[in-house]
Amino acid sequence: MSRSLGGLLRIAAPFAFVVAISANPGPVRADQTIPTLPQMGFNNWNSTHCRDEYNEAMIRGIADKFISLGLRDAGYRYVNIDDCWANWQRDKDGQLQANPKRFPSGIKALADYIHQRGLKFGLYSSAGTSTCEPLQENRGFPGGLGHEKQDAATFASWHVDYLKYDNCNNQKVDAHQRYTAMAEALRASGRPMFYSVCEWGENKPWLWAGKPPVDANSWRTTDDIRDEYASMLKIFKQNVVLDRYASPGHWNDPDMLEVGNGGMTDIEYRSHFSLWSIMAAPLLIGTDLRTIKPDALQILLNKEVIAVDQDPLGVQGKQARDTDGIHVIVKPLKDGSQAVAVFNETDAARDVSVDASEIGLKKAARYRLRDLWEHTQTEGDGSIKAHLPAHGIVMYRISRL
Ligand code: GLA
Repeated sequence: MSRSLGGLLRIAAPFAFVVAISANPGPVRADQTIPTLPQMGFNNWNSTHCRDEYNEAMIRGIADKFISLGLRDAGYRYVNIDDCWANWQRDKDGQLQANPKRFPSGIKALADYIHQRGLKFGLYSSAGTSTCEPLQENRGFPGGLGHEKQDAATFASWHVDYLKYDNCNNQKVDAHQRYTAMAEALRASGRPMFYSVCEWGENKPWLWAGKPPVDANSWRTTDDIRDEYASMLKIFKQNVVLDRYASPGHWNDPDMLEVGNGGMTDIEYRSHFSLWSIMAAPLLIGTDLRTIKPDALQILLNKEVIAVDQDPLGVQGKQARDTDGIHVIVKPLKDGSQAVAVFNETDAARDVSVDASEIGLKKAARYRLRDLWEHTQTEGDGSIKAHLPAHGIVMYRISRL
């Protein structure tokens, strides 16, 4: 009797566990580790800026979509909120507070909601006297300059996992000094927080932001992206040449994704997502996941392309060709294979050949070419022949047979 009951329990227990999880996310033990691979997640800025639709209900809805759309399973973890979350005034003790209209339950409650879903929560501030978005003329949302210790302690008490630290209203105080002050305050807060420096490349942060004492996890290399092909292209070109400054835990950040926002074609969004992945860039979704169209979602969920971004070797792809509007980028991968992207920036379709030697492959060897968008494979000497539409890309994983 007891044996059969025990057997029944052994069979039933895993199912009971699954039912309990899907009915109620319950208290999930918060994972406080900082990833050494490029951060993946969401940030509301590109889709909402500071419009009223950006509020507590929206961000909770986004966290729910991470799970129902399979984004958490695909590796997306951070749900980050951008500028305009704060009340325009600090409280009587000088502490930051949430805007009570946008986030009536407060930031800690939002972080809890996100953690309960096995996700992480990111917040925004600026290394200046106020953030970038003016509330009214001459008045903005409070920034962190001179308040670093207190603000970092507040973020820790709210269980923040990630800080995007912007550059507006910096009073011309030296950037290294400002970003060091917050780095030290974050470390002193006792809570591990991913540190995303948003300095727009003004003072070449790739030369200093990844090293102590700043030791940031990523740093913006360019101005803000816009949802237009020309903007994406310009940013790609600025970021792709910085490959030697990226390493595990320290990434160049060419800004957040625009995939799904409607200003580019699907071909262009595919190129955008592929280029960011081969550059080992942060993959921060910038579209409203509650209304995303299937084609855009399919791009964001391409696990073979994500695997290139997240490859554990942790190398940013290097440009092997930049001639006549054709770019060839090569990223070595941990298993000895390599990812190769061939991108046509021009406004006309092009037939492109890439010789095996151009991408560092051995002569007379045989290779498997896995097409990461078509999900098919061929065998050959490693050379690539591609017909690329205007603004189009092909991406392969090439391994020795
Ligand atoms: C700057 C940043 C953007 C965004 C806005 C918010 O422009 O670069 O990514 O955070 O500020 O105001």
